[in-house]
Amino acid sequence: MHDHVEMAMLWAHIWGDSFMLSERPPRSVCNDELAERIPDNILREPIDYLFADHCRQATLCNELHHFVAHFFNAPPDPDRAAAILSCLEVDVNLHIADEELDLFPRLRMRARAEDRFSELLRLLDKEHDRDRTLVEEVCVDLTRLVQGQSLEDPDRFCRSASALAASHISHLEWENAVLLPLARLRLTNEDLNAMGKTMAARRSIPYPGD
Ligand SMILES: [Fe+2]
Ligand SMILES: [Fe+2]
Repeated sequence: MHDHVEMAMLWAHIWGDSFMLSERPPRSVCNDELAERIPDNILREPIDYLFADHCRQATLCNELHHFVAHFFNAPPDPDRAAAILSCLEVDVNLHIADEELDLFPRLRMRARAEDRFSELLRLLDKEHDRDRTLVEEVCVDLTRLVQGQSLEDPDRFCRSASALAASHISHLEWENAVLLPLARLRLTNEDLNAMGKTMAARRSIPYPGD
């Protein structure tokens, strides 16, 4: 059993089973194109923004699976490769920064002993490190494909891309089930306002309503 599945079961035991499914992204929400942008005004509700980002990243994982599944059937489409590359390089990195620089430090301040946040954080850090490594590997090969070059080791690319898609979707689902509900429970309005402002600044856009 994966560590995070055990952790999700533990939190379900503490808070009741109902929260486990409360934030899973409905499939219909996740069918948007990769390029679709999350409306800026959602930054006023930064936890909703993180959830919307999870939905987009679930779409990204599906695209990556699809890309790998058809990789040897026909020449890879450079436009699809470019869309996936942009999402990995820009959006996923912004999202990880939102969590590591804005969400986790605030939750560390607000969490209560029974939340066992230090255990949760250890697992989150481990999974972010794993995904960062896979993202780097996959992006090197996607860049070559976008430039019309062949890959040194196509099988390795397919293995890394499949591993990334599988591990990342699992990461998103347990963050939806455990991390975001905890954030909604513990963060104050001041925390949320400050988070929204720094997330807007990270994207070089004005904080909506200012
Ligand atoms: Fe994360
Ligand atoms: Fe996340």
